[in-house]
Amino acid sequence: MSALPYAPDSALSAEIRALAQSRDAVILAHNYERPEVQDVADYVGDSLGLSREAAQTDADVIVFCGVHFMAETAKILSPGKTVLLPDLAAGCSLASTIDAEQLRGWKAEHPGAVVVSYVNTTAEVKAESDYCCTSGNAVEVINAIPDDREILFLPDMFLGAHVRRMTGREHIHVWMGECHVHAGIDPEHINVQRAAHPDAEFLIHPECGCATPVVEAMSAGAIDPAGVHILSTEGMIKRPGESPRDEFIVATEIGILHRLRKAHPGKTFYAANDRAQCAYMKVTTLPKVRRALKTLTHEITVPSAVAARARRAIERMVAIGGSGAGPGLSGPAPAPFRTSNEDPGE
Ligand code: 13P
Ligand code: SF4
Repeated sequence: MSALPYAPDSALSAEIRALAQSRDAVILAHNYERPEVQDVADYVGDSLGLSREAAQTDADVIVFCGVHFMAETAKILSPGKTVLLPDLAAGCSLASTIDAEQLRGWKAEHPGAVVVSYVNTTAEVKAESDYCCTSGNAVEVINAIPDDREILFLPDMFLGAHVRRMTGREHIHVWMGECHVHAGIDPEHINVQRAAHPDAEFLIHPECGCATPVVEAMSAGAIDPAGVHILSTEGMIKRPGESPRDEFIVATEIGILHRLRKAHPGKTFYAANDRAQCAYMKVTTLPKVRRALKTLTHEITVPSAVAARARRAIERMVAIGGSGAGPGLSGPAPAPFRTSNEDPGE
């Protein structure tokens, strides 16, 4: 699939902004959304930032321009709000790699293990978890767990390998799930782009299939670690502002290029793989955002018993680290360790 054309429509965007105001709605958009959807949003960010916005908004309605698990997370954090997903087809191949029954089976094989779920999971899986994390705070979350505890990390195997490396933990079991978009960014793409742009800094999302070989090559001295940064999507947005370099190779979903170019107009960005496009993120269009606001569809709900259990894990994620700096970089002090039997509010 090649990149979708940018389809701005100023009249439609103005209509959406007016509808949002009349509905007392906030529009949240992930960094991978279509450019014109990002431009109409009140807030654009990564999974962690969007969760935080959803938790603290005063608006009555949240229009979530992202994928289904993100809208579920917003509903769990803001149960009194109406949360809308403009297109129910906005799923996630990574979240689909594990369901609650599979997780219960895995837990039964490792009694007493602490379960850390990446935010790309269903509400039912989160309800079976002790902690959630995002790519922005996965290392800090693992560091909040005592050294001697066995950990089940799911569902992304590349992020799991990265976290294992960064924390030096031996007792981490990793679920063998992957995102088809990021797994498709492989070392060959990186070699081609680095040869074409030798002065460019290299920004990699830890879900990428290339992240593990690149880190191994760094350890072996084959790649200069100075120009390589493994970052969450929000970490990628910040990095060019801190870097003296003018060019960047970006290894993640290509929707992020719009925000990078807007935020850093004097710098140049190249996609590591210009076919790395998430079809689930791209189903949301401006006409669907308008329809969502006009008809208040599609409302996302989570059964209250599931939400109550999932909220605990999500609130720990929102509380821990995630300065946006990205995995492996330090954030605020981690919250104290608790298992799912203990309420963090107690
Ligand atoms: P971030 O948490 O970095 O926004 O990534 C979310 C995601 O879906 C990656 O594919
Ligand atoms: Fe899921 Fe991958 Fe799309 Fe992110 S890019 S939403 S992990 S399918």
